[in-house]
Amino acid sequence: MCGIVGYIGEKQAYPILISGLKRLEYRGYDSAGVSIFNKKVKVFKKKGKVSDLDDFASKQDTAGTVGIGHTRWATHGEPNDLNAHPHESMNGHFILIHNGIIENYSKLKEKLIDRGYNFISETDTEVLANLIEYIYLKGKVSAEIAVRLALSKVIGAFGLAIICREEPDKLIAARRGSPLVIGVGDGEYFIASDATPIVEHTKSVIYLNDDDVAILSRDGLSLKTIKNDSLTPKVQIIDLDIGEIEKNGFDHFMMKEIFEQPKSILDTFRGRVSLDKMEIFLGGLYNVMPKLIEAKRIIIIGCGTSWHAGLVGEYLIEDLARIPVEVEYASEFRYRNPIITPDDIVIAISQSGETADTLAAIKLAKQAGATVLGICNVVGSSIPRETHAGVYTHAGPEIGVASTKAFTAQVTVLAMIAIVLGYERKVLSKKNYDELIKELHAIPTKIEKILKSNNNYLKVSKLYKDATNFLYLGRGYLFPVALEGALKLKEISYIHAEGYPAAEMKHGPIALIDEKMPVVVLAIKDKTYEKIVSNIQEVKARKGIVIAVVSEGDTIIKKLADHVLEIPETKDELCALLAVIPLQILSYHIAVLRNCNVDQPRNLAKSVTVE
Ligand code: M6R
Repeated sequence: MCGIVGYIGEKQAYPILISGLKRLEYRGYDSAGVSIFNKKVKVFKKKGKVSDLDDFASKQDTAGTVGIGHTRWATHGEPNDLNAHPHESMNGHFILIHNGIIENYSKLKEKLIDRGYNFISETDTEVLANLIEYIYLKGKVSAEIAVRLALSKVIGAFGLAIICREEPDKLIAARRGSPLVIGVGDGEYFIASDATPIVEHTKSVIYLNDDDVAILSRDGLSLKTIKNDSLTPKVQIIDLDIGEIEKNGFDHFMMKEIFEQPKSILDTFRGRVSLDKMEIFLGGLYNVMPKLIEAKRIIIIGCGTSWHAGLVGEYLIEDLARIPVEVEYASEFRYRNPIITPDDIVIAISQSGETADTLAAIKLAKQAGATVLGICNVVGSSIPRETHAGVYTHAGPEIGVASTKAFTAQVTVLAMIAIVLGYERKVLSKKNYDELIKELHAIPTKIEKILKSNNNYLKVSKLYKDATNFLYLGRGYLFPVALEGALKLKEISYIHAEGYPAAEMKHGPIALIDEKMPVVVLAIKDKTYEKIVSNIQEVKARKGIVIAVVSEGDTIIKKLADHVLEIPETKDELCALLAVIPLQILSYHIAVLRNCNVDQPRNLAKSVTVE
């Protein structure tokens, strides 16, 4: 939700800001803007993509070595030039960019109007700019003090980068709830919402914590809290390669990320699953393992795709380890007064590690005394820092808004947890434990095989790209995959799609089926195979179009379905890892054929840092 970049140093700021914004565009892409200081402050902003801003701003005078830039996902006020960031305070003393929501902005706005302030945008950010300026002028204090005093009056979430016209050799950054990273260079500093715009300049970073304020100048950095307590900055070295954030010859990040899955899954279990020792070792959970093994209940929380991975986790942990599991949307969990006890283990799943609802749900679970674990992809993000322990998925940066490799990495971690717990709790025999470890090892090669059928998926996609609805059906481990397939299609191609447990179809959705309805059925040879064959017959009897994902060599469904997409056989417990791949590719091709912006679908943003 909104990308922030900032630069102060000896180099020209504009190219650094624009290239940084392009890397952060996955966080929001309805408007963008930059502000550069060079004797006076210049602000350029435009509705649309960062490239639209660049087309406009690069024709102007953008010289200057201090600047801030923003790419927006609108919350308050529609996407237009006026509501785009940066926002200037009424008298022009402060220019700021903001990620997050100022919840008490209307009250603050009323007070400022009473004191003579006018507003030109509909944003909460302009209120903050004016509040800082009001305190600055009225109190005759420094920019830093004005910022800290203003932030102490604010309710809500913010990641901020601020320029003060009278103190042009400084940038001020502050965070509460919205991520912010400082890049530390030689006589220069960078500010960004995540490390991707920073990594090409420096690998030394400081992750800001909630209520931190950083004051950056070419000579150094000072870090303190909003309440003015001094802090010692902790510089960390990030392990992120520039190649990981490029498209590497693919047309879209999404396709690159789909094709990366053999490697990303390998990276997820590298050093954790050993074929030599025949064991799974999860270092991040070492200290909490005794508690996990004895757990009476596990609650999994997440949003979107991460929630779907959580559902697979429920099936895995209940099946293999016999611990009761509940899976909750973080947004519901946090507001519905759930029963949480100190005996509970809560597992929060998040690719970005920044999802606002998941973070809030974690805080709630911690307050209730539960042990909270995280399964996250982005190292150093807020969720791993908020949880008691956890496992990084190590899938590498996921830039496409539609989550693909993050899902398979999350399911891989959940499978490892379930297998370990099953074995430690003596539910799984050593033989079954060993077999599952071997099969987990075989998954990347099996995915490589599925990826070779890309052309087949393209052919099917061409036939159904103009459909207005799709139904996805699956049973058992493949029910969450049906939900995930439907989500992938709707979010990038804007075709309405629904995922259902196959047996539920008879309880309503069957009424939707006619000769125009493509029904994607996940029909591999698992223990419900016969049942799903019957479900396919029910669809065919009503003239629906069946696209079936089947086990290699299946001859029965081949005769019934309109199209079959074969995947290698695997153990039932791991089938989600294979069955989701054809659905990802299908949705990708359909979206491309419909000329949709696959990596940046409308109305969406990669990490949802507002509730
Ligand atoms: O970063 P998170 O995993 O917490 O994000 C959760 C959802 O916002 C995310 O999975 C979303 O549903 C994706 N766009 C789905 O492809």
